Amino acid sequence: MTRPYNAATVRALYPGSFDPVTNGHLDVIVRGAALFDELVVAVGTNASKQAWFTVEERLEQLRAVAVAASVRITAVAFSGLLVEFARAQRIGCLLRGVRGARDLDYELPMAQLNRKLAPEIDTLFLVPVPEHAHVSAHLVRDAGRHGAELRGLVPECIRATVEQRLREGNPRG
Ligand code: PNS
Repeated sequence: MTRPYNAATVRALYPGSFDPVTNGHLDVIVRGAALFDELVVAVGTNASKQAWFTVEERLEQLRAVAVAASVRITAVAFSGLLVEFARAQRIGCLLRGVRGARDLDYELPMAQLNRKLAPEIDTLFLVPVPEHAHVSAHLVRDAGRHGAELRGLVPECIRATVEQRLREGNPRG
């Protein structure tokens, strides 16, 4: 099978809400950046979720954690269909993290739909390290808004900012 886009560098797109960026996300970012020549991390809008952090805040978080982890990424925002964005960027591989069976139940229909919409684009699943298997942005938000310390759950370089914002409550909620 030939590559969908005839490019010397192989690029992957890691989309997500990243609301906020967690250590699980960071694990996928580090691994993805090592596997591909270029990793584009794309902050999208999940229609079924009310965001806590603005897209700009999430992009800042992604850039800060990548710098702290010495990983080169491009962090961008996207709206509309993910596969259309991937096509416009000429990227043939979508990257997602899968922690367990429940994630797979959520991920498979998305991957199948994306494949139906864009057969030339593949979805690749990465499994985060077991230490992060329980970490989700949802749990981080829930613990954080009740004042929990988020050490070990979100990257250290953004922890204080994330903790403070979550304690203040959701300005859009
Ligand atoms: O981190 P999340 O919330 O699981 O990320 C979900 C996201 C943003 C990747 C997904 O909702 C998405 O791709 N939205 C864009 C709209 C789209 O393409 N929908 C069809 C495929 S599910």
